[in-house]
Amino acid sequence: MLHTTQIAGAGSPYVVVIGNEKGGSGKTTLAMHLAVALLKEGQRVGTIDLDSNQRGLTRYIENRRIWANHRRIELEMPLHHLVLRAEGAKLRDNEAEEMAAFERIISGIRKSVDFLVIDESNPSSIVSSIGAARRNAREERNNITVDVWESLNGLWLELSARLRGNRASLDRGAVIEAVKKQAVMIFGAAQVTLLRDEAYNFFQPSSSAATTPPGSST
Ligand SMILES: Nc1ncnc2c1ncn2[C@@H]1O[C@H](COP(=O)(O)OP(=O)(O)O)[C@@H](O)[C@H]1O
Ligand SMILES: [Mg+2]
Repeated sequence: MLHTTQIAGAGSPYVVVIGNEKGGSGKTTLAMHLAVALLKEGQRVGTIDLDSNQRGLTRYIENRRIWANHRRIELEMPLHHLVLRAEGAKLRDNEAEEMAAFERIISGIRKSVDFLVIDESNPSSIVSSIGAARRNAREERNNITVDVWESLNGLWLELSARLRGNRASLDRGAVIEAVKKQAVMIFGAAQVTLLRDEAYNFFQPSSSAATTPPGSST
């Protein structure tokens, strides 16, 4: 989905937000092409990467800078910013911190650019989903067991470490295997250590699974 609007007030930039729930639908690629096309048209362009997990737009822009330096050529560059995901204990505080960071960036560059291209994250990707599950678990830390928390947090730390490395050499099959293996550990920890209350039901894949005793399926 492509939505364009102008920030209220004279002399403010046009804002282009590229978003789609589905990962791999071409948001980052489109954001980069759009930013470069606008730069080639002589516009002053700001770019904001909201996907602090993948950082695709940030990497594209870094690569453009590295390429220009390597070839000793002048290439137009956008004013680029990455909004880092807040990692505090409270969901609401994190959202407020991320919004504050976003607003700081906007007010810092709004007078210096004609267009602002914003690349959204992939909220339904595997990495985002695990990140969201971990943040929820952290918020409910007192209602889940250490074993459930440790297994979910362990998966997140392992994923984060893998994603910090060189993306080109990332073994995606190994990532999927790690996620599958650790997901079994998380559900196993929930099965063995959680009381059969709301927290346990929350972990079940469906409401019928939550109420059907083991071995009673036909
Ligand atoms: N128009 C297109 N045609 C073919 N491949 C594309 C196109 N747009 C993007 N891609 C490729 O699809 C993959 C995902 O694109 P990306 O921009 O990272 O998606 P998103 O940001 O929505 O997750 C990348 O490998 C990219 O090179
Ligand atoms: Mg992307």
